[in-house]
Amino acid sequence: MSPVMTGPTIDFFSHSVAQTRRFGFRLGQFAQPGDVFCLEGPLGSGKTLLTQGIGQGLDIHTAITSPTFTLINEYRGGRIPLYHIDLYRLHSDQEIWNLGLLDYLESDGLSVVEWADQAKRVMPERRLWITLRHLSATKRGILMQAKGPRYIALLTSFRRDAFGG
Ligand SMILES: Nc1ncnc2c1ncn2[C@@H]1O[C@H](COP(=O)(O)OP(=O)(O)OP(=O)(O)O)[C@@H](O)[C@H]1O
Ligand SMILES: [Mg+2]
Repeated sequence: MSPVMTGPTIDFFSHSVAQTRRFGFRLGQFAQPGDVFCLEGPLGSGKTLLTQGIGQGLDIHTAITSPTFTLINEYRGGRIPLYHIDLYRLHSDQEIWNLGLLDYLESDGLSVVEWADQAKRVMPERRLWITLRHLSATKRGILMQAKGPRYIALLTSFRRDAFGG
């Protein structure tokens, strides 16, 4: 399977839970302080699963669970801090400020934001945007779009590592 890579975007498939985790693992290995990964996709499309792989790639050994009820979970046991943010239940702009969301996005950790489309206007202009879609019970489409030189470099490393060439 060869991915389609056009400039700052890459579009490919995951055929299993294990493969989605592995893609996440690679992203986690390449993550640098201050990175922001925005995840978009319907319920059950694999956002949390991908994040679990990212956490493993950061050397975080605690279980990463969906922060649906807390909106933000912090994990500090790895190479850099991971802020796992889930905006599914975000209802107002006020909550964005109450959460201190911008502080996380500008911190020295990696922020992974599920349902980032719920707060698109406050997401940084430079970011990795990942859109997941259901293709079948076990297959997912994964589209990664990089904005800004840092994320284009990240995507290039990811592609080389995941697909060779
Ligand atoms: N290739 C695949 N990649 C990811 N998940 C898969 C895949 N095949 C099947 N699944 C299943 O899809 C579900 C993905 O769940 P996950 O919690 O990661 O989704 P989510 O996008 O975070 O959902 P939510 O919007 O509710 O937070 C899991 O039940 C998983 O077993
Ligand atoms: Mg989730």
